[in-house]
Amino acid sequence: MTTKEKLLLYLKENKGNWVSGELLSGKLGVSRAAICKHVRKLKEDGYEIESSTRKGYLFSKVSDVLSADEIREGLNTRVFGNNIVCLKETDSTNIRAKNLAAQGASEGTVVIAEKQTKGRGRKKRIWFSPAGAGIYVSLVLRPAISPVEAPRITLMTAVAAAEALLSLKCLNVRIKWPNDILVNGKKIGGILTEISTEMDSVDYIVVGLGLNVNMQLETFTEDIRGKATSILMETGERFSRIKLVQAYLQWHEKYYDILKNRGFEPVIQRWKELADIIGQTVRVDMTGKKIVGKVMDVDNNGVLILKDNQGRSHGIFSGDVTFVPDKPGK
Ligand code: BTN
Repeated sequence: MTTKEKLLLYLKENKGNWVSGELLSGKLGVSRAAICKHVRKLKEDGYEIESSTRKGYLFSKVSDVLSADEIREGLNTRVFGNNIVCLKETDSTNIRAKNLAAQGASEGTVVIAEKQTKGRGRKKRIWFSPAGAGIYVSLVLRPAISPVEAPRITLMTAVAAAEALLSLKCLNVRIKWPNDILVNGKKIGGILTEISTEMDSVDYIVVGLGLNVNMQLETFTEDIRGKATSILMETGERFSRIKLVQAYLQWHEKYYDILKNRGFEPVIQRWKELADIIGQTVRVDMTGKKIVGKVMDVDNNGVLILKDNQGRSHGIFSGDVTFVPDKPGK
């Protein structure tokens, strides 16, 4: 353990209490000037540490720094997160994860960033990714499935993200087909799945999740302000991103194991409970086309099965869904 790591550990153990520079210097066997230098580095990493010439140092209770060590500490997974790449800033964690996967990164490799400069969503949309407020995380998977089954991974990821939110906070979480996580009807998260294939098998899948955690209403850009929400906005409380990432990885691994050992049925069942879309009337906007119809099913490959008002069936692979309220008396 380096002096900086030992110092962090000691400050954490005394979270909320002042610790004098003299005591730290004695405990760690380095000068007070060295302690001061390491505290400065920890602050640069994002830890909230107060300094006082009289009292020493105070590790704040609200420090929420994304680092590989913080994520690993208390992470209860077998494979997911064995390799964590934590970045202060990147273009897109999906791009980073795809590069790593192409170089052979193992299944369960996690790429996470404090900030993305080119965070991407579906249909080349921008994913708003300001520093410190959200979770921008991508996971490398190497499932033994055919490319047509890849949408299962998106649905499974939505279930894992929803379960993570539900297990930590009593929020009104819903999944919106195919990849949106909503709370009270507003978007709190989204998933971008990218796939690399070889002949008719999957080489790797990178599944990226963006979650709005500690954004305030004013943090959001004007175009998404009315449609987006965050945990802070819903509960009035800042939330630990570390805890949320850990819960997400744990749920994700759990559902991935279910998928491998018992097949997709239990996953899609839970997805349907959380999505509550079957039987609803929806409008689906696709490029250059709109269809209104009743949702009959979401099949095992994530295809939305609609019946229009002329009784025709439509299988929809991709599009934006809007719920259409049923007319009274119908
Ligand atoms: C969507 O709702 O359209 C999907 C949004 C996906 C955003 C995440 S953030 C982490 C990962 N990196 C990206 O560039 N995109 C995904």
